[in-house]
Amino acid sequence: MADYVLAIDQGTTSSRAIVFDHAGTIHSTGQMEHEQILPRAGWVEHDPVEIWRNVREVVGLALTRGNLTHRDIAAVGITNQRETTVVWEKSTGKPVHNAIVWQDTRTQKIVEELGGSEGAEKYKRKVGLPLATYFAGPKVKWILDNVDGAREKAEAGELLFGTTDSWVLWNMTGGPEGGVHVTDVTNASRTMLMNIDSLTWNEEIAADMGIPMSMLPEIRSSSEVYGKGREGGMVPGVPIAGILGDQQAATFGQAAFEVGAAKNTYGTGNFLLLNTGTELVHSENGLLTTVGYKIGDQPQVYCLEGSIAVTGSLVQWLRDNLGIIKSAPEIEKLAETVDDNGGAYFVPAFSGLFAPYWRADARGALVGLTRYVNKGHIARAVLEATAYQSREVVDAMNADSGVDLTELKVDGGMVANEALMQFQADILGVDVVRPKVTETTALGAAYAAGIAVGFWNGEQDVVDNWGEDKRWTPSMDEAERERLYRNWKKAVTKTFDWVD
Ligand code: G3P
Repeated sequence: MADYVLAIDQGTTSSRAIVFDHAGTIHSTGQMEHEQILPRAGWVEHDPVEIWRNVREVVGLALTRGNLTHRDIAAVGITNQRETTVVWEKSTGKPVHNAIVWQDTRTQKIVEELGGSEGAEKYKRKVGLPLATYFAGPKVKWILDNVDGAREKAEAGELLFGTTDSWVLWNMTGGPEGGVHVTDVTNASRTMLMNIDSLTWNEEIAADMGIPMSMLPEIRSSSEVYGKGREGGMVPGVPIAGILGDQQAATFGQAAFEVGAAKNTYGTGNFLLLNTGTELVHSENGLLTTVGYKIGDQPQVYCLEGSIAVTGSLVQWLRDNLGIIKSAPEIEKLAETVDDNGGAYFVPAFSGLFAPYWRADARGALVGLTRYVNKGHIARAVLEATAYQSREVVDAMNADSGVDLTELKVDGGMVANEALMQFQADILGVDVVRPKVTETTALGAAYAAGIAVGFWNGEQDVVDNWGEDKRWTPSMDEAERERLYRNWKKAVTKTFDWVD
């Protein structure tokens, strides 16, 4: 068998390809950013054609840099930004509109109308999710309502919907010439259209949203052969054998297989997932119920998820919109020029607030300002915002599960930031643990694909390959921790009711 597995990570800001060896270590990578299209306040779009072009490019890069050809690849796994919605024409492969990104809030009215007198909880017992702008179903409805002729074409069976996993898979397996139209259970669990217990599409909800069933991809497990790379493509004949939404992939790559195991990924947003096993837990505290993974015919494993819309992207905003720093890593140095936040708190409710509040009406606020506050304090407030938001989600998880988290596994870009990780441990009051391979998202997708083709034997291989790199232990005293957190909570209340 070939010696490597390739993972494609189609993320919010970039697409990456990473080749892993049997020990789960990185052999080679390729990465390209794509344009963030911001047509109006609250709207965020991507060009699916650019995304597909970049995916092909980064796979080529990873293979060339690793001195490999497709013959060295045993299987391909796909992981992706979840909820981001693409609708395209079956016969041509042309998207009918830009992809509407998970952060986009344009569906607020649709969501309110769908909820009617029952409000945000209307479908929660069925799909595990509150009605919110975050999820894919209402975004499909927006496209069908607003793109000329789209509804007629959809009803005639001419349009397909997919999150970006489906978009990439369909194109990789042949596009208009026999492309496979499939998604996995984890991505389907983010649409608001899948029954969270039976893992089948809910026809009633699809009808409420006016979405023809013919548009929807087939729901499959996270680890099985969906199809093969098309002839003439970048990986001809190679089985594409794993799909996991990026946060579920990171949970898998972190070997969080035990009930009660949790991980927090620090990306554009933060996403904390807690494994609840084969038991479906409905949150009473603002968390989502989501599918964690399903390996072939084995029963699905569920997670509770705390989704935070804006964490790393606040650092990008400081760089791109304010120009206070030139590169994202500079924020750590700037934050180190001061000893504390100087009383400033930055609540980045740019897409409303997700967990545990689910307030579409919230907008960002920088509060506690005095003339004393300088850019160092603001840099600190920006970093601290990530830690406070994560604490809110951990509190909700502890309340839902009745058991307090004892340590938190972390991954993603921001975990290179030592000051943030120490502050995170301080604000949580539990150890924060970083693994040796922090590219757990791509790794998880690689494992799902590799397991399907027998490259790895199963979860035990993932556990055996996982290694601890560094651990941060809380050093802040309890009174200070609670004082800071109390102030944060007060700051959050200042962000409500900002939408007319
Ligand atoms: O739910 C959104 C999430 O999947 C996006 O993740 O890492 O692309 O920001 P990321």
